[in-house]
Amino acid sequence: MKRAKITIIGAGNVGATCAHWAATKELGDIVLLDIVEGMPQGKALDLFEASPVEGFDANITGANDYAATADSDIVIITSGIPRKPGMSRDELLETNVKIVADVTSKVIADSPDAVLIIVSNPLDAMVYTAAKVSGFPTNRVVGQAGVLDTARYRSFIAAEIGCSVEDVHAMLLGGHGDDMVPLPRYTCVSGIPVSQLIAPGKLDEIVTRTRNGGAEIVNLLKTGSAYYAPSAASVSMAESIIRDKKRVMPCAAYCDSEYKIGGYFVGVPCVLGTGGVEKVIEVELDAREKAMLSTSVEHVKELCAATEKYLPK
Ligand code: LAC
Repeated sequence: MKRAKITIIGAGNVGATCAHWAATKELGDIVLLDIVEGMPQGKALDLFEASPVEGFDANITGANDYAATADSDIVIITSGIPRKPGMSRDELLETNVKIVADVTSKVIADSPDAVLIIVSNPLDAMVYTAAKVSGFPTNRVVGQAGVLDTARYRSFIAAEIGCSVEDVHAMLLGGHGDDMVPLPRYTCVSGIPVSQLIAPGKLDEIVTRTRNGGAEIVNLLKTGSAYYAPSAASVSMAESIIRDKKRVMPCAAYCDSEYKIGGYFVGVPCVLGTGGVEKVIEVELDAREKAMLSTSVEHVKELCAATEKYLPK
């Protein structure tokens, strides 16, 4: 069987760590692309030289030229500047719309059948940008946010209970902002509702910590944002698509009638398989959850409206 081809645009911390996770999972051949000369080539060669030690087989190429990315099955877009302490993701909008629009138009020219996984921030606006610029069917454009946000939420819950992270399952809706909507009613530990294991006040604290999870890391690092968990989350989405696992994951997917969103990419549970987003799953929400989702979606819509003025004409 032909190996999948995965292009990762942006060879900074998130992109390079995506390459690392994808290589160790043997998801396919990897092209790491960046505008900085030598840097993606150096990181790709270094990672390739780790392959005999770790025992993975993958061709790993670093490139500055999009020709190397031709016929990719998956493109993970990580380009753009990260935030610094005190900044919101939204403050990156103007710079990153221009960058993501540029890389999207270049990469789709030679990979017209790829699935695009967007990781750059502000995430919801960057997915909108990639969708507009690519003109791809909406099932082939998806944003990574919910897998990261639920991973944070699941790890905090496991640490609180003192149980394996593997047994904590959770769902989250909305945008990748401070108003994201973790759903304690849809959180369980090996099928046991989390409400039977963690007191409501403590669970509220975990929800708040999850919402601020990105900022918590930015404040600690001071020079950039998180990359291990964001890249692991992105690669788990790529894996579900490449291996047609049809995992149900919270992703920024296009919703029209779904959740009555009306044509925006927002975080919802999706089935990810060969076709990209193969299905959006609608879960029942109570009045409070609906209100929180609506606040988050309003914020996504405002961001998309603000994005319009920076998109190429
Ligand atoms: C975060 C950034 C990458 O949540 O959005 O860590």
